[in-house]
Amino acid sequence: MTKFISVQDAIKKGKGKVAVRGWVYRERGSNAMKFIVLRDSSNIIQCVLKKENFEKQWKDIDGLKIESSIELEGEIKEDKRAPTGYEIAVDKINIIQIAEDYPINKDLNEELLGDRRHLWLRSRKMTAILKIRSTVFNAIHEYYHGLGFYEFQSPVLIPGGAEEGPTLFEVNYFGKKAFMTQTWQLYAEAAMFALEKIYTMAPTFRAEKSKTSRHLAEFWMHEMEVAWINLDELMEYAEGLIKHIFKRVIEDNKLELEILGRDIKKLEPTIKKKFPRITYDEALKILDEKKNIKIKWGKDLRTVEEERLLEDYDTPVFVTHYPKETMAFYKPRDPKNPKVAVCFDLLAPEGNHEIMGGSERDTDMNELIKTLKSKGEKIEDYSYYLDTRRYGSIPHAGFGMGTERVIKWICGLEDVKDAIAFPRTMNRLNP
Ligand code: 4AD
Ligand code: MG
Repeated sequence: MTKFISVQDAIKKGKGKVAVRGWVYRERGSNAMKFIVLRDSSNIIQCVLKKENFEKQWKDIDGLKIESSIELEGEIKEDKRAPTGYEIAVDKINIIQIAEDYPINKDLNEELLGDRRHLWLRSRKMTAILKIRSTVFNAIHEYYHGLGFYEFQSPVLIPGGAEEGPTLFEVNYFGKKAFMTQTWQLYAEAAMFALEKIYTMAPTFRAEKSKTSRHLAEFWMHEMEVAWINLDELMEYAEGLIKHIFKRVIEDNKLELEILGRDIKKLEPTIKKKFPRITYDEALKILDEKKNIKIKWGKDLRTVEEERLLEDYDTPVFVTHYPKETMAFYKPRDPKNPKVAVCFDLLAPEGNHEIMGGSERDTDMNELIKTLKSKGEKIEDYSYYLDTRRYGSIPHAGFGMGTERVIKWICGLEDVKDAIAFPRTMNRLNP
């Protein structure tokens, strides 16, 4: 039996006999020769077939179209002109399937590429992104396992809200109204009393009506929750995680970053430098004094304002202590300044905005009930949550991270949609 190796391993071998298999990435031919760029999950390589060696098979070889599946054997050697620096002189080919005309070409607009997403995943760009995405997921698990965390899962179908009512997806639950989860957090807070240090990677749903380059209707949120810690300790975890993810990607995905044209120098400061920490009040001051932008105290920072704030930084920046009134109900008042909440957003450079949000959690039962009511929530929906404050309530904190937003930033993408294989947005549910 032929022993097939990956294209990348063949390139590493660099000389001698090799057998590889995959798909036709590019093809061109003449009367006497056929050039095929073969693609597998690892890389691409140029292969050349001479007609004189394949008289019987030539008709099929000549008719090979893009994405046809084939097995090849031949001699590999260095060739500086070939796209990845090597070429295989093929002496045996086994055609698995001759593909129909491939419906993707460079003239397709974004909409048509979106319709053909299931095929577009095979592009070098998407393959590179999906590999980096896999590294990011792995790095998250690795980071928390190394710190003695437990992985904990919360339900996806829930009876009521948590973050924002208007962005809840409603589902028919045996004739009753139920919703798709927007966050793992509230159930995680309950589980924290059993496990103390927990994290998750989970699909999260938000009926976002905004068509921005940062919002998905379904995304993978990484969340964590820890007993007995305060905001500063929480930010240490957050910074450690981002640094770990970046280290892993730079170590494991050099080739993919190169394919994406991403300059590693842009990523290095995030590993090397400490992330600045500024308060919301300080952010307003910087915007006023340095950027000539005046913001009324209490207003959320808008996209342009975050962008201006971040333009002088090459690492993410923690912005802490936002006005309490605009915040989710579980973010506690700062005892030193009751107008603000003990919370942070982590804003990423290069126009990437909020990649994480976290806070200490309010342990004051009356304050929680008051805030929930003021936001029009039904207290019954939160009775399990309020129980956590009745029995052995302790200080604790946690954050959530938009995994696709981090991938978008690492890969230098224009839109978060390309950070996930099959994006779900207001305008797209297919394929
Ligand atoms: O800031 P958010 O809404 O915070 C929470 O859900 C908390 N319960 C997290 C926690 O403390 N456990 O969402 C967290 C992060 C945001 O910072 C953002 O990066 C990402 O999730 N995010 C989205 N990513 C893609 N598409 C969307 N529609 C997103 N909404 C939030
Ligand atoms: Mg947020």
